[in-house]
Amino acid sequence: MSVAKKPEDTCVLVTGGAGFIGSHTVVELLENGYHAVIVDDLSNSSAKAVDRVKTIVGEKAAANLTFYEADVNDRAALERVFSENTIDRVIHFAGFKAVGESVGKPIEYYTNNLGNTLTLVDVMREHGCKSIIFSSSSTVYGDPDSLPLTEESPKKPATNPYGWTKWMIEQVLTDLHTADPEWDVVLLRYFNPIGAHESGLIGEDPKGIPNNLVPYVAQVAIGKREFVRVYGDDYPTPDGTGVRDYIHVMDLASGHVAALAWMNGRSGVEIFNLGTGRGTSVLEVIKAFSKACGRELPYKVEPRRAGDIAENYGNCDKAAREMGWHARYDIDDMCRDSWNWQQKNPDGYATA
Ligand code: NAD
Ligand code: WQD
Repeated sequence: MSVAKKPEDTCVLVTGGAGFIGSHTVVELLENGYHAVIVDDLSNSSAKAVDRVKTIVGEKAAANLTFYEADVNDRAALERVFSENTIDRVIHFAGFKAVGESVGKPIEYYTNNLGNTLTLVDVMREHGCKSIIFSSSSTVYGDPDSLPLTEESPKKPATNPYGWTKWMIEQVLTDLHTADPEWDVVLLRYFNPIGAHESGLIGEDPKGIPNNLVPYVAQVAIGKREFVRVYGDDYPTPDGTGVRDYIHVMDLASGHVAALAWMNGRSGVEIFNLGTGRGTSVLEVIKAFSKACGRELPYKVEPRRAGDIAENYGNCDKAAREMGWHARYDIDDMCRDSWNWQQKNPDGYATA
């Protein structure tokens, strides 16, 4: 069982803390009094994100943040992090996340996502740290039999290596707790995170052509891409386009802080969905973004994208009941904040 501690006495290792969800979570951690140590190899992020986190939280809270540029799979580097800091808990974001890319690069995805998790938990065990929150995904539910998805909904076989890594890591962490009940494991299954910090200083910075809908729409809005490609309008949904449960990244961030407070002093394996519980279609997203940026965004309907499902959204009552957490932002807020970030940083962190 992990020892219950106050935030100001708790040091949280955040792997992948320079990334999209990680950077926003570190803001919430620091603003809630926690100490944070980021380990990120910057394979999909920028050190500027860490600097901007410090700007957002201010000098005093920023003094509680330490950054290591290192690969979580580099055991020696991780050992150093654990010996130089007293790590109480870990939030594990580090990993590759592009679904399509994972199909062509299974070895890279399994090595990075699974490999770094195994290294991480082994080093944690060695240092007596047995408390971990893992970034899982609603992708583990596959094509749902019924909606909304609850934590009891069945896991389905994944359709790509990325999805399998989430699936398998959930199993690894569950087995770890079976072997040693002192482990304290929370699996957070995120729905579709979008939006950005209201300051517009940190946000999502995809490399190349965005795979995900909202970053693509944002690039149409800023004039980098001509029109939105709507992948299919013949799904059995109200307007025929795909429906997802979009969640503001700051709501996700506060979900991690709520989970830390909830698990404080417990042991076990617990799963929580983090979403809004509401489904929004592709056309509704385009409409909300058009409203945010003040012009009608052009789109063209194209064939369905391979591997896509019609609809998914979560029931997030468990997180509300157990942790007192619920999403505060709606799709208009999410699009407003994505647009603010996009406008202020048209080339992401590469913007001067
Ligand atoms: P991201 O790519 O922005 O962040 C991941 C971070 O991990 C990056 O900063 C990257 O540089 C770092 N990283 C990758 N491999 C590493 C390694 N071996 N060592 C150290 N650092 C490493 O992605 P994100 O959107 O912030 O996602 C964070 C986590 O949440 C990921 O595990 C992802 O699979 C999961 N998740 C994301 C979504 C989503 O749609 N964004 C949905 C569900 C789950
Ligand atoms: C949303 C909707 C598309 C792009 C992915 C991962 C999932 C999770 C979140 C990590 C769908 C449609 C998209 C475009 C479109 N990530 N679309 N035009 O596929 O729900 O989830 O990210 O765990 O595992 O699979 O998100 O943003 O790609 O798509 O019409 O240019 O937008 O068909 O209906 P998805 P998405």
